[in-house]
Amino acid sequence: MTAKSAKRAPGAGTVRGGRLDAAPSDLMDAINVSIDVDKRLHAEDIAASKAHCAMLVRQGIISEADGDAILGGLDTIGKEIEDGRFLFHRSLEDIHMNVESRLAELVGDAAGRLHTARSRNDQVATDLRLWLRQTLDDMDEALAGLQAVLIDKAEAHAGTVMPGFTHLQAAQPVTLGHHLLAYVEMFGRDRGRAADCRRRLNQCPLGAAALAGTSFPIDRRMTAEALGFDGPCANSLDAVSDRDFAMEFLGLAAVLAVHLSRLAEEIVLWCSDAFKFARLSDAFSTGSSIMPQKRNPDAAELVRAKTGRVIGALGALLVVMKGLPLAYGKDLQEDKVPVFKTAETLSLSLAAMAGMVSGMEFDTGRMKADAGGGFSTATDLADWLVRELDMPFRDAHRVTGRLVGLAEEKGLSLDGLHLDDMQSVEKGITEAVFGVLGVDNSVTSRDSFGGTAPERVRQAVSAARKRFLT
Ligand code: ARG
Repeated sequence: MTAKSAKRAPGAGTVRGGRLDAAPSDLMDAINVSIDVDKRLHAEDIAASKAHCAMLVRQGIISEADGDAILGGLDTIGKEIEDGRFLFHRSLEDIHMNVESRLAELVGDAAGRLHTARSRNDQVATDLRLWLRQTLDDMDEALAGLQAVLIDKAEAHAGTVMPGFTHLQAAQPVTLGHHLLAYVEMFGRDRGRAADCRRRLNQCPLGAAALAGTSFPIDRRMTAEALGFDGPCANSLDAVSDRDFAMEFLGLAAVLAVHLSRLAEEIVLWCSDAFKFARLSDAFSTGSSIMPQKRNPDAAELVRAKTGRVIGALGALLVVMKGLPLAYGKDLQEDKVPVFKTAETLSLSLAAMAGMVSGMEFDTGRMKADAGGGFSTATDLADWLVRELDMPFRDAHRVTGRLVGLAEEKGLSLDGLHLDDMQSVEKGITEAVFGVLGVDNSVTSRDSFGGTAPERVRQAVSAARKRFLT
């Protein structure tokens, strides 16, 4: 379905109407024409035209015969486009004029009545809202799919111990299941933001016409309802001129992309030789043209990098909108590329991320060994001093610091220290302290709500399934 570059298209419906005689310059066309981008709105454009037509008939604004002809013609056009038989003409600027012009070829004069009481301004605002609503629904499904994959992995690794980091330094041992469920929460909030955006965008601009409404006795509730909107937009100027729904979409998309990029970065780290925590499946690894041993995580790196495009798209639309006076300005035509590109990018990134996570294998032995490094159970030791010796936490913190220093000096881990050594720092310490110095005990003990204990993770897994996947 490539756009044809014929200078004049067959059929009626050119926008230049009776006012402009000479053909536009090629440069005018080059900067003005949007069909290559907005032909993606064809299904929405036809659906909105059908709803408008049915309403015009019901209100007695056009005849039933004309209405039937128009509806039949629109269905034919829809099929032509679906089958790739439709010829898009650049000289007809955009999807709206392409459809209308073809309609004139198919049904003759009746076609000219369809544009009664509407404008391309309310048409395009309606089309884009419809398109974005479907996109948000698709995105919600993709996010739920990714959550499902993460939840399954979390369940399988509810008891797998790994180092938890702050400042990318070993902090306290955590469970891998707990770590993965952190992303399930993030993606859950992303879904919430998408649902908010969908709810607010679900008002219908159709009938706002060019900017001021119309003198025809239209029924805006009827068209809104036919297109699945909650109702008509209350103000015609607002309806044709704001794109806050698109800005909101790009805003939530940027946050989602940032979440994806953080997970992608962790995958890159985990699969690195320095960490060796995880291995991606062959299906999601790439080789090197020179180094035969390589298994590169290109997909994760690309998910990480594509975040740049999404954040850029948000910036682009915000700048388009900033300072734009009411109502419609052709600037608004520039809303589509950022929106379409972002939807495309995220749909690919979400699918790739789900694929990567589902095939990822973890080296649980290695992770557990690393979890004990870096004196990661020092907090457990301090907590023990508080609990068993009734020390204020600040004192326990200082004593533990000295014990860590001692262990470091001797090249030992905390549980490698002799009891005598420990008692030289704090005489109240007993043999029982060794019970809290292992990583398994450490994670098991953190069973506060929202904590990392394996039992908590198992509960969180079933709670997450109920919250997000039913
Ligand atoms: N292609 C245009 C857009 O995307 C459609 C609206 C044109 N309206 C106008 N007044 N020129 O915004």
